[in-house]
Amino acid sequence: AYTAEPFVPGGAGLDALREAAAGCRGCPLHREASQTVFGAGAPDARVVLVGEQPGDQEDRQGRPFVGPAGKVLTRALDEAGVDPDETYITNAVKHFKFTVVPERGKRRIHKPPSLREMTACRPWLAAEVHVIDPEVIVALGATAGKALLGPSFRVTKQRGMLLPCPALDGHEMLATIHPSAVLRADDREAVYRGLVSDLRVVAETLR
Ligand code: URA
Ligand code: SF4
Repeated sequence: AYTAEPFVPGGAGLDALREAAAGCRGCPLHREASQTVFGAGAPDARVVLVGEQPGDQEDRQGRPFVGPAGKVLTRALDEAGVDPDETYITNAVKHFKFTVVPERGKRRIHKPPSLREMTACRPWLAAEVHVIDPEVIVALGATAGKALLGPSFRVTKQRGMLLPCPALDGHEMLATIHPSAVLRADDREAVYRGLVSDLRVVAETLR
């Protein structure tokens, strides 16, 4: 089975984990992507936010949520009252998965990671969460939710509530929509409001 496990150094801090993750070959996704995109943020964060996987911009720059979805997320966190200095942002899968569309100027279009790839990559997320030991973890979107709460997870039904996450040591977790859903929606404002309202629940738990 694919797994990052043999690449994860035991007892390592975030910097050593990031360095080791740069050489991960735990699943085939490292072959086509430019680089590993590890998490970023405060080592003593109270909130760990988990996206799906890096996008095109993140793959080029090597940092999570630096593209359009990241802008939406930053604004929503601010509006919800979550202090950015208390957050750490990462992804369920650390390499960009994509297909090239030749008729569209060779644009790289994001492909959703498979359950096998998410499971393979989970030791990195588990190590990040273990080192940071946050008060709450936020799963951004259905993919992160399923990766962490199991395939029966439904974001429409379970968003906005605090649930224990067995895959991550029973840490408290809240799932919400992915910020890119705001960008794709017909009614952007309403979808954005929903994201902010879920993130307010996170802000409340930190008071
Ligand atoms: N979408 C994600 O899920 N993660 C990123 O890092 C960027 C976009
Ligand atoms: Fe390793 Fe995760 Fe990249 Fe797969 S996606 S090679 S498990 S870091």
